[in-house]
Amino acid sequence: MAEKRRTLRWWHILLAVLALAGAGVAFAYQRLSIPLPESALPADYRPDVKNGERMYFAGGCISCHRGIGPFVELPAGGRKMKIPGGEIVPPNITPDDETGIGKWRPIDFLNAMRRGLGPDGTHYIPAFPYTSYAWMRTEDILDLFAYLKTLEPVRNEVPLKTARLDRFALAFWKWLALPPRPFRDLPGKDALWNRGAYLVLGPGHCGECHTPRNGIFLLDRNRWLAGAPLLTEKGDAPSLRGLKKRKRYKDVNDLMQALKYGEAMGYEDLSAGGMGEVQSNLSRLPDADLKAIATYLMSLD
Ligand code: HEC
Ligand code: HEC
Repeated sequence: MAEKRRTLRWWHILLAVLALAGAGVAFAYQRLSIPLPESALPADYRPDVKNGERMYFAGGCISCHRGIGPFVELPAGGRKMKIPGGEIVPPNITPDDETGIGKWRPIDFLNAMRRGLGPDGTHYIPAFPYTSYAWMRTEDILDLFAYLKTLEPVRNEVPLKTARLDRFALAFWKWLALPPRPFRDLPGKDALWNRGAYLVLGPGHCGECHTPRNGIFLLDRNRWLAGAPLLTEKGDAPSLRGLKKRKRYKDVNDLMQALKYGEAMGYEDLSAGGMGEVQSNLSRLPDADLKAIATYLMSLD
C-alpha cells in the first residue's frame, strides 16, 4: 500500500515538472512569435525608390527569387535551391495580390526582413538570409519594399514548404541568431568604411557564405569573413581577411574593379559557388558603394 502511494507521488511530480516545462516553452514560443508593431515604423516616412533599387541589388534578392521562363528578370520565385538536408523554393516577391506580396503592409515586410517572421506568423527558414538583413536600417528596408512594389506583378503561386516542427524550433534558433539591433556606425571609423561595413554585414549578407558556422549554424563572429565551406554545394567561400597582405588585390581600387567587373576583366575568383550572381548584382551599385565595400574589406587583417 505504502509502496503504491510513493509511486503515485513520483509520477505526480514528474507530470507537474513536464507540464511546467511545456508551459514555459509554449510561453517562450509565443513571446518569440510576436511581430513588431506599427509603431516600429518611422512616422510620415516617404520611401526613396531609387535607394530601394540599390538595396535590391546590394541584397541580391534576384539571385534566389529569380522567376522562370519569361520572368527571369523578376523575383517571381519558383526555382529550387539546395539547403542542408533538402531543397527549398524561394517564393514570389513581386507585388501580385494573390500569389506575391501585393497585399503586404510595410510592417509585414519589416517583420520579414528584421525578424524572419511572416504576416501569418510563419518563422522563415534562414535560407532567406534575414539574419543579415536584420542589420539593415528601417528606412532602407522600407525603400526596398517601395521598390519591389514598382515591379511588374507576376501571378505565380509558390507555396512555402511546411514543416511545422522545424518552424517551431526556428523560433528559438532565431532568438540566438538575430542581431539585437540594426547596424550603427562604428565611432572612430570614417563614413566610407562604415558604409562598406554596413553593406557587407546587412544587405550584402556576405558573411552568410564567407563566415564559418558552429554546430547549430550560428555564424562564428570570432572568425568573421575568415572563409567557410558552402552549405549549398561543394567548395568553399574563401577568406576575405588579409586580402591586401596575401596580395590578392593591389589596393582598394583593384578590389573595387574586381567587384564591379568580375570575370569580364580577368578577376577569375569571383565567379564560382554563387559569387558570380553576387558580383553581377554588385555591378549594379554606384561606384561609391563599391568603393565603400572594397575599403572595408581591405581593412580586415
Ligand atoms: C539566399 C537566397 C535568398 C536571398 C538572397 C533572398 N531570399 Fe527571400 N527567401 C528565400 C527563401 C528560401 C524564402 C522562403 C523561406 C521559407 O520558406 O521559410 C524567402 C522568403 C522571402 C520572403 C517571404 C515571402 C512570403 O511569401 O512569405 C520575402 C518577403 C523575401 N524572401 C524577400 C527577400 C528580399 C527583399 C531579398 C533581397 C533583399 C531576399 N528575399 C533575398 C531565399 C532568399
Ligand atoms: C552565395 C555565397 C556567397 C555570398 C553571399 C558572397 N560570396 Fe563572395 N565568394 C563566394 C565564393 C564561393 C567565392 C569563390 C569564387 C571563385 O573561386 O570563383 C567568393 C569569392 C569572393 C571574393 C574573391 C576572394 C579572393 O580571394 O580573390 C571576394 C572579394 C568576395 N567573394 C566578396 C564578397 C562580398 C563583398 C560579398 C557580399 C556583397 C560576397 N562575397 C558574398 C561565395 C559568396
